[in-house]
Amino acid sequence: MGWSREEGIVGESPVMRALEERVQRVAQSDLPLLVRGETGSGKEVVARAVHGRSRRRAQPFVSESCAALPETLLEAELFGHEQGAFTGATRAAEGLFRRASGGTLFVDEVADMSPALQAKLLRVLQTGEVRPVGGSAAVRVDVRVVASTRHDLPRLVEAGRFRQDLYFRLAVLELEVPPLRERLEDLPALAHSILLAVARERGEEPLPLTEGALDVLLSYGWPGNVRELENVLRSAALFAGGGRLEASLFRILSRSPSPAEAEEDAGLCYQELREQLAERERRYVLAALRRADGNKAKAARRLGITRYALYRTLRRLGLDGEATRAGVEPETEVSLPRERRRTGSGSERLKPVAV
Ligand SMILES: Nc1ncnc2c1ncn2[C@@H]1O[C@H](COP(=O)(O)OP(=O)(O)OP(=O)(O)O)[C@@H](O)[C@H]1O
Ligand SMILES: [Mg+2]
Repeated sequence: MGWSREEGIVGESPVMRALEERVQRVAQSDLPLLVRGETGSGKEVVARAVHGRSRRRAQPFVSESCAALPETLLEAELFGHEQGAFTGATRAAEGLFRRASGGTLFVDEVADMSPALQAKLLRVLQTGEVRPVGGSAAVRVDVRVVASTRHDLPRLVEAGRFRQDLYFRLAVLELEVPPLRERLEDLPALAHSILLAVARERGEEPLPLTEGALDVLLSYGWPGNVRELENVLRSAALFAGGGRLEASLFRILSRSPSPAEAEEDAGLCYQELREQLAERERRYVLAALRRADGNKAKAARRLGITRYALYRTLRRLGLDGEATRAGVEPETEVSLPRERRRTGSGSERLKPVAV
């Protein structure tokens, strides 16, 4: 039948057509569902499509990310809490399970749940009842649980980081959202729909992509998938100056990560990611300082940030010592692409687009 308009999913490639058929099937069931896929690949839009095609469609679709909150807050958020259950709980809260009553609860990044919460979620799936924090009475809930993960859960189970019994409960049904690099046929249509949305927001005509630009987009590895494509096009549209989107706007993407690297990126834990980002930022800043012969005002201009922001950055990266004062730096050159110098503000621009 194909994706419907309101689902907002672009995907006519063979892998996305196959996914659409599976979405239609799993929507007929009430069993828990696990949606797997790399970061930014569209796990949430797919989960919404399942809900929208299910008998629960008139009831709420409630989404919560397990990566966003510390354990105790997440527990209270999901299961609810009684008044006075913890400091700050001035009122009782029903919790997302009850808010999703009759509908679907989307548990995003389920692998980030602590062992204690994993146990609690398992109990809800087994009994169909939730116990609010600080309360003794269990409450029946009628909710379909759809969980998502960008990790290889069986591997986490082997490593003892995810409960096997919970994995089996959640993964009764599974959907795999393919990475963008495996459905490049969809990229032109995706790009078009994103540019159309951007233009609509700004009340302008959509900017056309040149053939050369499309070539660059098609030869990139897209470790951050559709979300990364959105980010890249948004920023390109901002710097295109109203004309066409030329290849030069995307030069930053020209060195594609290999699929292996892309997978590695997708599997990074937050700590590793932060370390890698800091390392890249450090190299950029040092290169700018070196080119400015150690002159911080000049280096800041080169990076397109204020001198104060540069000082803060140097301190944060532990680079405010002697070596940088002289602008001397033991590392190899990195090139600063033009786009990076002009775009964004503050340390924002130093992020690789891949996240
Ligand atoms: N096939 C698609 N067609 C159109 N837009 C899409 C498609 N897939 C994803 N998107 C868009 O890309 C962005 C990321 O999608 P979504 O949040 O569903 O991905 P995710 O896998 O849950 O990502 P994350 O790992 O960041 O949570 C959203 O803005 C979504 O609307
Ligand atoms: Mg998501």
